[in-house]
Amino acid sequence: PIMKEFSSAPELEKQLAAALNLQSCNVVSGNADESDWVKSELGRACVSRLKEVINEGQVISVTGGSTMNAVAEAFTEKLNKENLLFVPARGGIGADIKDQANTICQKMANKAGGNYMVLYSPDQVTKEFYETFIQESSIREVLMKIKSADIVIHGIGDAMTMARRRMTSEEDMQKLVQEKAVAEAFGYYFDENGRIVHKVQTVGLQLEDLKNIPHIFAVAGGASKAKAIKAYMKIAPKNTVLITDEAVTNEILKG
Ligand code: F6P
Repeated sequence: PIMKEFSSAPELEKQLAAALNLQSCNVVSGNADESDWVKSELGRACVSRLKEVINEGQVISVTGGSTMNAVAEAFTEKLNKENLLFVPARGGIGADIKDQANTICQKMANKAGGNYMVLYSPDQVTKEFYETFIQESSIREVLMKIKSADIVIHGIGDAMTMARRRMTSEEDMQKLVQEKAVAEAFGYYFDENGRIVHKVQTVGLQLEDLKNIPHIFAVAGGASKAKAIKAYMKIAPKNTVLITDEAVTNEILKG
């Protein structure tokens, strides 16, 4: 028999995909809120799915966060395809160095024997700064790679958790509360219907760019993210493969 490299629950996966109107998802056992081990499983499940689609010379764009860090940890040389290029999906959106997209790209590239590019940009840039900044040739080069990525791997977070982690201004915090933000992905905040209620102004991937990306993996687990995942999946491109855990799945299927 072929051993699966990660635990999964086919029946739950089918039900969850149907509930979220997605083509495919993976469910690993446990609750990522309760143990880091579950995050590692999410990482391994993601790498396993990635292996099915990845090809030589492809560009992989990734976001930050502790779950993406777990994905990077799970990278192995078995993934080894020539000339892979890892790029951060968005600049700025401040976090711990180890959980920044730039750091994660570097880690993935080192493990898979590929290359990486960095994108350093402050959050909340003014329009003037933005216009000048993206004309810079080194920045333009990264931005073009990001927009032409073959694969995107990203996290999803609870809106308020992410807003606090990013030291969001009091004004924006109030806006998020007022607009009932529940989810965050790519620096965008969404309410439970998947409506964008706020966006961190930074360079890189914009939500509308996702429609040109052939393969998208969303990796997020832990019961505390159930609402966020459900909300984001309302607007997620249908080719998004969700990789999550049992705790999220049970919450969502409970209705
Ligand atoms: O900040 C990058 C990011 O991918 C967010 O878009 C997402 O909400 C968050 O990280 C998830 O972080 P974690 O995996 O640590 O919960």
